[in-house]
Amino acid sequence: MKTILLKINRNRPESKKIEVAAKAIRAGKLVVFPTETVYGIGANAFDSEACRRIYKVKNRNVDNPLIIHVSSIEMAEKIAYIPEMYRNVIKRLWPAPITFILKSKKILSEVAVAKLDTIAVRMPAHKVALRLINKAGVPIAAPSANVSTMPSATKAEHALQYFRDKVDVIIDSGPAQNGIESTIIDLRRFALVRAGAFSVEEIAKHFGRMPKITPEALGNKNAKIAISPGTKYKHYAPETPLLLYSGALSRLPYVIMAATEKSKRRFAFVGSVEMCDKIRNKLSARQNKNVRFIALGNRRNLREIAHNLFDRLIFLDSTKVSFAIVESFPQRGVGLAIMNRLRKASGHRYFSDAGQLEAYLKLI
Ligand code: TXA
Ligand code: MG
Repeated sequence: MKTILLKINRNRPESKKIEVAAKAIRAGKLVVFPTETVYGIGANAFDSEACRRIYKVKNRNVDNPLIIHVSSIEMAEKIAYIPEMYRNVIKRLWPAPITFILKSKKILSEVAVAKLDTIAVRMPAHKVALRLINKAGVPIAAPSANVSTMPSATKAEHALQYFRDKVDVIIDSGPAQNGIESTIIDLRRFALVRAGAFSVEEIAKHFGRMPKITPEALGNKNAKIAISPGTKYKHYAPETPLLLYSGALSRLPYVIMAATEKSKRRFAFVGSVEMCDKIRNKLSARQNKNVRFIALGNRRNLREIAHNLFDRLIFLDSTKVSFAIVESFPQRGVGLAIMNRLRKASGHRYFSDAGQLEAYLKLI
């Protein structure tokens, strides 16, 4: 199959091109499309055959349900029950990077929702996505457009890298604004299921209380040294082994200097512009030659860090370094989601001093 690439203007989507993509959805084809969070790989949520293909090309476990994208509250209410007490706040919030787990009306393909009696429903705040769903006239089941375990696609180029000639259409509307997936809230427990682009602080403001935050939503797991993490925990991960620094920030340049002094291995440092500069200044000229600096953005601007995170992790693999070190970020606002992704991307390999870093370097 040859993938059709459609460039669509994100502010003024061209109707003819939207119609081509919508027709493909209705015909049971796979369409990669932009949202405000990350790119999604979409299919008609009523079409089991099409949804099965999503799992196949992503290499995704069939017991892991897809998010169902809608373009109106009416469409959401056709497929799921919105609790009366939350209807107004949801109406006010959507479209937004926030997904709600709702009780299912059981009319969608069982493949799309992995046979559960709940559905994850979201109305994306992106003109192209909304027009596409609206024009297709059906809810679109769409996980993030990445091969399972790999970082999510935030640009059409990433989706092309993953799915060239494996999907029917890829829409290119430029980089996704948020760069990190939607926040998932289970409304029955009022609990955070996945930290995401919509901060829990904002959720608390809209709902009048803080959602319950589970360890699972934070991506926590006991830190321990392991050659490779259990694959069931692997997610958002580049192929390059990633080590997450969890100690005091001011110590990081010294820790890196001490642990890599004698080593000739090339590695990458992924982090804020500020920390890249500090490390560059601390290391000797010879040491600097072994480091590839990959800047995520300004440390004070967590939105910028989130926007660039997956793009830089995908880029990291093209540098062919033997490992990478990434810095930690404050867990406020979108920082909670950034840290969730970094914990998982690192396979829970954390270190806070030179000794621990050296121990990892013997293993990877
Ligand atoms: O921002 C996003 O949410 C992107 C864009 C494309 O909309 N989509 C996305 O989908 O991140 P995906 O498949 O990568 O992540 C969906 C998550 C999975 O962890 C899945 O297990 C969970 O949502 N999920 C789906 N249905 C669920 C349900 N009924 N109950 C609990 N979790 C559910
Ligand atoms: Mg995903």
